Amino acid sequence: MRTTVGIIGAGPAGLLLARLLHRAGIDCVVLESRDREYVERRQRAGILEQGTVDALRACGAGARLGREGLVHHGIELRFEGRRHRVDFPSATGGRSVTVYAQTEMVKDLIALQLDEDGPPLLFGARALAVEKPDSAAPEIRFHHEGRERTLVCAVVAGCDGFHGIARRAVPADRVRTFERDHPYSWLGVLADVPPSCEELIYARHPRGFALHSMRSPRVSRLYLQVPNGTDPAAWPHERIWDELSLRLGVDPDADGGGSWTLERGPITAVSVTPMRSFVQEPMRHGSLFLAGDAAHIVPPTGAKGLNLAVSDVLTLARALIHHHRTGSTELLDGYSATCLRRVWQAERFSSFLTDTLHPRPDQSPFEGRLQVARLDRIATSATASAELAENYVGLPLS
Ligand code: APR
Ligand code: PHB
Repeated sequence: MRTTVGIIGAGPAGLLLARLLHRAGIDCVVLESRDREYVERRQRAGILEQGTVDALRACGAGARLGREGLVHHGIELRFEGRRHRVDFPSATGGRSVTVYAQTEMVKDLIALQLDEDGPPLLFGARALAVEKPDSAAPEIRFHHEGRERTLVCAVVAGCDGFHGIARRAVPADRVRTFERDHPYSWLGVLADVPPSCEELIYARHPRGFALHSMRSPRVSRLYLQVPNGTDPAAWPHERIWDELSLRLGVDPDADGGGSWTLERGPITAVSVTPMRSFVQEPMRHGSLFLAGDAAHIVPPTGAKGLNLAVSDVLTLARALIHHHRTGSTELLDGYSATCLRRVWQAERFSSFLTDTLHPRPDQSPFEGRLQVARLDRIATSATASAELAENYVGLPLS
């Protein structure tokens, strides 16, 4: 098998890249190790930056997103029983975010690719290795329908997520990795109950962080900070609701306090996810380009992971199309540096929000007071609030 761009992984990064290349008349093939049902059912992120929404619309994947996506103009911070709303449009020249599940975006992109005669998308095709990544004809060795095959390409796009194989094709002496683990995880639940809020709530509580998010007007998505290694079985549903109510609770006498109740309903899924920060540099080795989680991970606190995957792929598609049309490698040569600048801004913002909202198990009372002081600063300074808003809605694509 031969193609121009061999794409490993049918997550948001691989699927969007395939769509952009196909529309520009560049051949590609997508290899995905899982089956379609698994890929479409996986519960992942749910907040799209304005730039992500614009990109999906521009490539024809915005129809259902336009109908079902919920546009949010702010978030609420809760700490010390207080409530503070961060307004996005006023601080960012009118920008906002859209609540739309990553799984829905993936379904839309898969449907477009399969229904509109898009490039080949092979499910159950597990890439085993990228061979000769620094040559002009790199190869992807993969396993499909019981046998081993080879896809010969001009370029390989490693969009195979954090546990993929593409990243490992870069020789150890050519990479640097930067990593930080966090001493807590998120217990995430999906519940068949209308959200008890109109906008997302991020809460810092001495017992731990809590987040109230949503998937639709009828489905809530909620998270609790829990110790690493937590067994979801230790969290019966009543315990989850009790803990969420406590951590998200407000004090009627505090600033902005008032009264608020968390509505409970049937929990349909529970999972525990560790938090990780990771970057591999550079994001290119010869003809191999890494994009999305294959190259970097952020903790989920700022909802940046999916959006970073999209911005990498926009940059890569632009560079490949430029090369295809003009023969110039200028944008391809700049790919890694261009992406990494934005990646590190997202790492910075995600670390800031994570560190500010999660009490660490071993932290001193002094650090706890600093967290509250940082939140108080955001609540009382238009500049500090605008800084959060600008990062949350997404820094400009370069
Ligand atoms: N061969 C083929 N496919 C593979 C292989 C392999 N060896 N290894 C992994 N994959 C597939 C996975 O099954 C998955 O479908 O690659 C895809 C990678 O998709 P994602 O993990 O969703 O990564 P990405 O497209 O970069 O999107 C980033 O995912 O984890 C979230 O928070 C993150 O929302 C962000 C988004
Ligand atoms: C989610 O809805 O899954 C979500 C929202 C905001 C975050 C992280 C996750 O910061």
